[in-house]
Amino acid sequence: MDIISYVSDMPKAELHLHIEGTLEPEMMMALAEKHGVVLPYATLEDVHAAYNFSDLQSFLDLYYFGASVLREESDFFDLMWAYLVKCRQQNIVHTEIMFDPQTHTDRGIAFEVMMQGYLGALKQAEAEWGQSSKLIMCFLRHLSQASAFETLRMAEPFRDEIDAVGLDSGELGNPPEKFTEVFTAAAQQGYQCVAHAGEEGPPAYIWGALNSLNVTRIDHGVRCLEDDELVEQLVRDQTPLTVCPLSNVRLCVVDEMKDHPILAMLDKGLLVTVNSDDPPYFGGYLNDNFLAMVGGLGLNQAQAKQLAANSFKASFLDEDKKVQFLDALEAF
Ligand code: ADE
Ligand code: ZN
Repeated sequence: MDIISYVSDMPKAELHLHIEGTLEPEMMMALAEKHGVVLPYATLEDVHAAYNFSDLQSFLDLYYFGASVLREESDFFDLMWAYLVKCRQQNIVHTEIMFDPQTHTDRGIAFEVMMQGYLGALKQAEAEWGQSSKLIMCFLRHLSQASAFETLRMAEPFRDEIDAVGLDSGELGNPPEKFTEVFTAAAQQGYQCVAHAGEEGPPAYIWGALNSLNVTRIDHGVRCLEDDELVEQLVRDQTPLTVCPLSNVRLCVVDEMKDHPILAMLDKGLLVTVNSDDPPYFGGYLNDNFLAMVGGLGLNQAQAKQLAANSFKASFLDEDKKVQFLDALEAF
């Protein structure tokens, strides 16, 4: 099998995907029309032209603006459904999906409206083709810890449907320590904990996520390479890093795909995985990330298989489910 077919068809998990970041320009324009939201784009080309980012914040400004077209339960359903169909097409047999409640509740959308839409699509995909998934509720780090606590409270009726809490949005100037108490409270309620760290922020933010937020997985984490002691600990503890290659190129974390350190990270023994982050904004879904690594980094079959195996190992699945998926990958 050639490498393009191999990476496209191998079974894999995705662990770092923002559902609000899967909003395709076509859906954004259709929902804007439906709700009478005026967008600063006349055509799809205008939207694509705007996706020319200089850093994380320049992306976040458009991302939050785009999410403002999501209003009704069926909008949240349609958004989630479209991503789950991609999972089926790309053989993403398990996905751990991040969502940002504050982006909606701060606009007056009820937490329940958002959740019913998301959960409806997840249940339908599970019933129709056995899609496996988990949900990660992220706190926006540019907002206060009090707002994060309020979000944790709103999630109480959905405790059994949400598996983990995370931390996203503008990293610089919003260190993990700002959220120590709310992560402690979430852990006490039984949530798994993850956080974006070391995307634009320094290695100190990765240390902070590990030591103050007690996370068991780091989102991005590519800047760990600037700190040998940190790399040593991450390798020793096999702490997963959910790396997003196309995102890092588009947000200028690295210059070009050929400069991306993901394969060097794999060689060091770090438990790295490949993820798409916000696919339409960054040029592609999970398979597009693997294909970009084939083109830019010469990714080979053994490396691709290792990255897919890591995606199952790094997931929040039960051990027996992990073994089932790993066996299926081995047999592929
Ligand atoms: N929200 C959506 N995508 C993000 C990213 N790459 N970093 C931080 N927050 C985000
Ligand atoms: Zn992210």
